[in-house]
Parts: sequence; C-alpha cells; structure tokens
Amino acid sequence: MKTIMLTQDSLLRGSLLLINARHPLPQSVAPDRLTPFFGSGVLLERRTALVLENLFTALGCGASLIPVSGYRTLTEQKQIYASSLERHGEEFTRDYVALPDCSEHQTGLAIDLALNREPVDFIRPYFPEDGVCGRFREKMISYGFIQRYPEHKEDITGIAAEPWHFRYVGIPHAAVMKERDLCLEEYIDYLSRYPAEGPHLEIEIQNKSFEIFYQRVNTADGSVSLTLPSSLPFQVSGTNTGGCVVTLWR
Ligand code: DAL
Ligand code: ZN
Repeated sequence: MKTIMLTQDSLLRGSLLLINARHPLPQSVAPDRLTPFFGSGVLLERRTALVLENLFTALGCGASLIPVSGYRTLTEQKQIYASSLERHGEEFTRDYVALPDCSEHQTGLAIDLALNREPVDFIRPYFPEDGVCGRFREKMISYGFIQRYPEHKEDITGIAAEPWHFRYVGIPHAAVMKERDLCLEEYIDYLSRYPAEGPHLEIEIQNKSFEIFYQRVNTADGSVSLTLPSSLPFQVSGTNTGGCVVTLWR
C-alpha cells in the first residue's frame, strides 16, 4: 500500500467537478491548464482538448463539426448572460445560460459543438441526432464525454436539454453514467454512497475492471490523505461537493 497526500488546491480540479447554480466554480482555471482545441480560437482544459482531438480524428469529423464555445472567463459568461437577457428574455436565459460563476464552461471541461452549416447559433447550436452528430454521440462515451444536460433531467440540472453541450468526465465515468442513466448531479450523489471506508463500487467497462469510491474532505486545511494499493494506476478528481472521487484501474 502507499499513502498519498492531496492538497486542497488539487481537489479543486478534475474531470468530475460539479458546477451548477448550487455548486459555483471553486476557483478560476490557471491559464497554463488551457490549450486551443485543434489550433482554433476555442480553448479547453488540456486533457479535454487532447481527448476530443483524438475523438475527432477517429471519426474524421473535423470538417463537419465546429467548436462553437469552450472555455469562458467569468467576464465572458457575464456578457453572454446579459446579452441573452436583453435579446431573449428571462425564461430563455434561465433555461439555456448558466449564471456567471455557475457555468462549467468556466472549467474548460465543456464544449458546445455545431454541425458545420450556416447560420451557427451561438447559444443553441444545431447538433442533430443523426449523421455525423449521431456517430459522435455513439463514440464519445468511450472517450469519456457525456451530454451534460439531457432531456428529462431538467429539474435536477436546472438547465433545459442541450443536445450540443458536451462535458468531459473521463473513463469509465461516462460509460457508467450512460449505462445507469444518471446526469452528473445524480452520479456524484450515487458515488458518495461508496465512501472510502465502506464497500467500493466495482464495475467492468469494456472488459476493464475499475474500483471507485468517494473520499469526504473533512480536514481543516481541505487536504486529504489516501492509502491506495501501490501497484494500481489511479486517478483522483475533486467534485466540488466537499469530497473527491478516487478511480482505480484493477
Ligand atoms: N449553456 C450552459 C448551461 C452554460 O451557459 O454554461
Ligand atoms: Zn455549453
């Protein structure tokens, strides 16, 4: 076994960060953690950009799909919110635009994509179910992406269905969420029922075995000490809900 210490700073990052109206952004993203997606003007968190580039390459969809909006600063989210209020009114804005500091676009883990067809709507890009968009949806799960705001989960996410907004949560989480029909709010809640000290979630996805558990952070300085098997690869992500998720590759 090995013991690792995680600082508060490292727990304010990760692909499973939950950002919504009840869980605002805990800290802004350092510029060196962002990179342009395929050299475009759209920035994404580094790993998110790399995995999405690999997915685009595997699908050969670079000319058919365009990145509309990725990382946004607080100032940009404020501008989008204010201009939507002015142009579309309160109800539309509440449904489709997150409040400033409550948008996961501010993490660089989310991207809005559109079918490459004029005109491109900035707030509600066209991303149908069929054709190249359908193929993207089928393949994205094995790359760790989810549709963040599904239909029928509006009461939980607080946002209307957005077929164009994709979120990187990583492997195997995207597959577990898809298989169990859980949105991110539900998934973090589900994982919190597998605490470090209790039985862990053990799952098999694409012939690989994973062990997942939720570690509550209850130290005054927000740090966490984890004891893990020395031989297994692992990943830790903060959740922005007072804990972190540990994923072990078995
Ligand atoms: N459209 C999503 C909810 C955002 O503004 O972050
Ligand atoms: Zn979006």
